[in-house]
Amino acid sequence: MGTYIPDQNITSGLDVAIIGGGIAGLTLALGLLNRGIKPTIYERGRSFREIGAGIGFTPNAEWAMKVLNPKIHAAFKQVTVQNGTDWFVWMDGSQEDEALVHKMYLGERGFEGCARADFLDELVKSLPPDTVKFSKNLVEICDADGLAEVELKFSDGSKTSTNVVIGCDGIRSKVRQFVIGEGDNPAHHAHYTHKYAFRGLVPMDKAYAALGQEKTETRHMYLGPDAHALTFPVAGGKLLNVVAFVTDPNQWPDSEKFTLPATKADAVKAFERFNSTVKAIIDMLPDELSKWAVFDTFDYPAPNFIRGRVCISGDAAHAAAPYHGAGAGFAVEDAAVLAQLLSAVNEYTKSHDLEKREISKPGLIRKALKTYNTIRLERAHWLVETSRHIGEIYQGQNAEVGLDSTKCAREIDWRCRQIWHYDVDKMMRESKELFEKQLDIV
Ligand SMILES: Cc1cc2nc3c(=O)[nH]c(=O)nc-3n(C[C@H](O)[C@H](O)[C@H](O)COP(=O)(O)OP(=O)(O)OC[C@H]3O[C@@H](n4cnc5c(N)ncnc54)[C@H](O)[C@@H]3O)c2cc1C
Ligand SMILES: *[C@@H]1O[C@H](CO)[C@@H](O)[C@H](O)[C@H]1NC(C)=O
Ligand SMILES: *[C@@H]1O[C@H](CO)[C@@H](O)[C@H](O)[C@H]1NC(C)=O
Repeated sequence: MGTYIPDQNITSGLDVAIIGGGIAGLTLALGLLNRGIKPTIYERGRSFREIGAGIGFTPNAEWAMKVLNPKIHAAFKQVTVQNGTDWFVWMDGSQEDEALVHKMYLGERGFEGCARADFLDELVKSLPPDTVKFSKNLVEICDADGLAEVELKFSDGSKTSTNVVIGCDGIRSKVRQFVIGEGDNPAHHAHYTHKYAFRGLVPMDKAYAALGQEKTETRHMYLGPDAHALTFPVAGGKLLNVVAFVTDPNQWPDSEKFTLPATKADAVKAFERFNSTVKAIIDMLPDELSKWAVFDTFDYPAPNFIRGRVCISGDAAHAAAPYHGAGAGFAVEDAAVLAQLLSAVNEYTKSHDLEKREISKPGLIRKALKTYNTIRLERAHWLVETSRHIGEIYQGQNAEVGLDSTKCAREIDWRCRQIWHYDVDKMMRESKELFEKQLDIV
């Protein structure tokens, strides 16, 4: 087996096509570059674009960033709020007093938030300029056994071929449809969870005046009946990010758009049963809001993440409701495994006589992706499931748990630990071992 030690100087014999330049695609690209592989990102948009809202990363995600490429982690730390407190606080926002539910320590500078666009801008700075092909909307994939390479077709009529395709094309993934297979299948799409979020940024001086230091500086989750709200500082502490989730018995009215205009009055109504502190937070939101539908893949998960030399990662593979704030972090974990395995394929291709070993490059790639699937499938499906459950718990909708603070705390604690304290190094070791076992080299 070739060495896994990153080497920036080697020339890669492996063509990797990444579909989509979100967090999944960009972190994977940087992880591959760190291992001497120069991928091509095909992005549908004319430029990189992220919804202008906040995002936080759990400790497991920071660990995976470091493993992928220290530049990713440095980029993240560059744009986060550097000096909030390192705690996550859950409170019952429907009680007329200080009702602490649970509190977890995140480690020094743990779970920091940033503006998404700032993070992506930092990541893009580390990409060689010709890595990304913009305005490339993937419409068709062909991966037949007889083909030397996988063929890709874009909506502008252009075509390309490549050794391996990683679908990082998000919740409405085209690549997922290919991986799952032709014919009508509800797993081709994510589905509405009957919850949506109001999102808004509040100037910090205004938030501070209403809430004080503790509640503006530390991540707070306010639980309550059929709604819950999350707040944390972004933009160097100049803004308070507010995400207010509500339950919606109706169908989402638009099949194309996940975001629709909303008014503050709608939000105020949904938080009627909360106390005056939480109502004050809602009241600070701007009058014209947008609401964001929460879709996920819980009801119809992808049975697996691979088909031949094509795979999916990030939201394309496992779109989870955002209550654990871990979806993008899991995309980074996916990327760490993929970067290592593709790097192993690359090393192996260069340093061994494949024919003598009776394995072709496509065969090697298929085994690498199989390894990725085995390592990631269960944990990724679990994220989708626990994200659904914790959303119900935050909104007092779990019949056994209700808004009982002891029971809520227990559920929050073990679920968060399973996400935050995941052993990324162990995952990397296991995927390396499993791949070698598949190749019959010990
Ligand atoms: C309200 C909310 C809050 C969240 N908060 C957090 C949080 O705090 N922490 C966290 O870890 N996660 C959070 N998440 C989840 C996180 O946003 C997602 O998991 C993450 O952004 C997914 O990244 P991705 O790269 O897989 O997909 P995306 O970011 O959706 O990127 C997909 C990219 O693919 C491109 N594309 C799509 N189709 C094609 C095509 N056919 N051809 C070419 N390109 C294509 C798109 O243009 C896009 O650039 C939150 C989600 C929501 C909704
Ligand atoms: C955070 O840093 C800023 C600027 O460095 C400083 O003014 C502020 O007091 C710090 N806040 C805390 C809570 O440490
Ligand atoms: C409302 O609930 C929050 C969370 O429990 C608490 O911190 C706050 O003090 C409460 N406000 C009032 C007015 O009771």
